[in-house]
Amino acid sequence: MRIAQPVQRLTPYVPGEQPKESSVVKLNTNENPYLPSPKCADVLKGFDLHRLRRYPDPVFAALRARIAAIWKTVPERVFVGNGSDEILTLAAKAFVDDGETIGSLDPSYSLYKTLAAIRDVPFVPTPLDADYTWNGKIKGHPALFLLTNPNAPTGVLTPSEAIAAAARRFKGVLLVDEAYADFAKSNCVPLATAADNRCVIVMRTLSKSFSLAGLRLGYCIGPEDLVEALYKVKDSYNVDAVAQAVALAALNDLPWMRANVAKVRKTRARVAKALAKRGWDILPSDSNFLFARPAHRPAAEIFAALRDRHIYVRYFPGPRTGDRLRITIGTDAEMDTFLSAVAALDKA
Ligand SMILES: Cc1ncc(COP(=O)(O)O)c(C=O)c1O
Repeated sequence: MRIAQPVQRLTPYVPGEQPKESSVVKLNTNENPYLPSPKCADVLKGFDLHRLRRYPDPVFAALRARIAAIWKTVPERVFVGNGSDEILTLAAKAFVDDGETIGSLDPSYSLYKTLAAIRDVPFVPTPLDADYTWNGKIKGHPALFLLTNPNAPTGVLTPSEAIAAAARRFKGVLLVDEAYADFAKSNCVPLATAADNRCVIVMRTLSKSFSLAGLRLGYCIGPEDLVEALYKVKDSYNVDAVAQAVALAALNDLPWMRANVAKVRKTRARVAKALAKRGWDILPSDSNFLFARPAHRPAAEIFAALRDRHIYVRYFPGPRTGDRLRITIGTDAEMDTFLSAVAALDKA
């Protein structure tokens, strides 16, 4: 069997664990603990099976129109993907030539490095400062810079003015991955919709704030020529008919999403305060998770001990991440279970 060289060399991305038991407290993959809009359930209940006989709309016209209306832009500037992960793969195809590079912050979403390896181009990390903030400079001259904002796994937000300044200097495509921006105090969509924008793409997902990780729906907004390039390289029917219909229902019920986001933010503040009181170091989070350094025992030990108690958080070994845990914000009851376990485990 012949396997291409880059794939032979590839270390694949490892997603967070999806335990089979339903009784676990699952705080490891930044899912939303609350249900998606009931309008999504209505669409699923009433879904006409004849629509599944036919191929879906290849250019998702209704969804694009809705997304364009939400952000006061035109549908020509909107692209939709089978999850935002698909858009990242397509961006690596569309915007990077052989011999060029892909960059991102370090630490950041670890999939980016894998995407560069699949695309068979070097990956150039830009290290964050000691306090996990970004100074606005991009290392090397990547053709594509993937900027998670708020960042993951840190939760730290870079102000949009700093990103606008970086974009003015940058020669490549700057893709701002705003997977968590609905939980933040600001976002960069105005940079993407600006008339004079030539290089900024802002990407969103329905997996987090809209509680639809199982649906697989992401979108992005950018200059028309870049969006057109994404259409050129996508599969003909990359977003299925059910996903298009359910996503449209969710996007037609923004108050539902915003109410869930408000609950998550309130719980986030409460949990951050409780952990800080125990002496844990908590980075300021603008997302639906906390990146926290335990006070008395190594993060790896707390991670394993929590797992033994069926409480799943995320642990990323490594020099900038290995002394911390990434804790997704769940319901108040789930977070109380987590906090009680921490109280028992993290003794001096
Ligand atoms: C920064 C970031 N971007 C993208 C994604 C992927 O989102 P999607 O579910 O839309 O593929 C994630 C998921 O965890 C993420 O953390």
